[in-house]
Amino acid sequence: MQLYTKPRISPSVLSANFLNLQSDIELLNRSESDWIHLDIMDGTFVPNISFGLPVVSSIKKVAQKPLDVHLMIVNPENYIEAFKKAGAAILTVHYEACTHLHRILEVIKMQGLMAGVSINPHTSVQLLDDVLDLADLILVMSVNPGFGGQKFIPNTYSKIEDLKNRIVRKNSKALIEVDGGVDLSNAANLVKAGADVLVSGSFIFNSDNPEEIIRKLKNVV
Ligand code: DX5
Ligand code: ZN
Repeated sequence: MQLYTKPRISPSVLSANFLNLQSDIELLNRSESDWIHLDIMDGTFVPNISFGLPVVSSIKKVAQKPLDVHLMIVNPENYIEAFKKAGAAILTVHYEACTHLHRILEVIKMQGLMAGVSINPHTSVQLLDDVLDLADLILVMSVNPGFGGQKFIPNTYSKIEDLKNRIVRKNSKALIEVDGGVDLSNAANLVKAGADVLVSGSFIFNSDNPEEIIRKLKNVV
């Protein structure tokens, strides 16, 4: 029997109660979650607008877990320092939004943050081969970015397996994070495929007992 490492859990605040964010962040502080996932959307890279720097800074004041900031924005290179100041610990940019991805990852790391790259469902993992030695995290989107509550795309399993093999071959330490439609029906198989970090939004916050759901996701293998 193969033993798997428990995944890190990064609940997405996109599905939290925006009228009382403090109480949901305090809930995450009490929970078994490892990180707190913040989705930044600009209405250009994705067809939706979420929230920006002032909200990240406010969350930072109460959060006792690292802020895992997922930038779904064009020109992310212009905002690296601002998100560091706002309190990000992990900063992820989209492959599809970066002409000079290698340079951007270097700048994020120079700021002392973990540097992540995210790929949309249509983007092949092989395109990441030349940054696997630099990236601390690869975020594989398992829905098209822009909205919470979408249906998981099953092709994600083979992408994660492929990516895991490439990471091992390159001797990279990059973590694999999966984001979109993650729930208890797919979490165990995602970890078995190679995922290290599970992002989950609506499944956690739309439940009657978010802390219990986080505990179940954490202990899925
Ligand atoms: C989607 C975001 C996700 C989203 C996940 O563009 O990147 O982080 O909040 O939400 P669920 O878990 O509801 O798919
Ligand atoms: Zn996200």
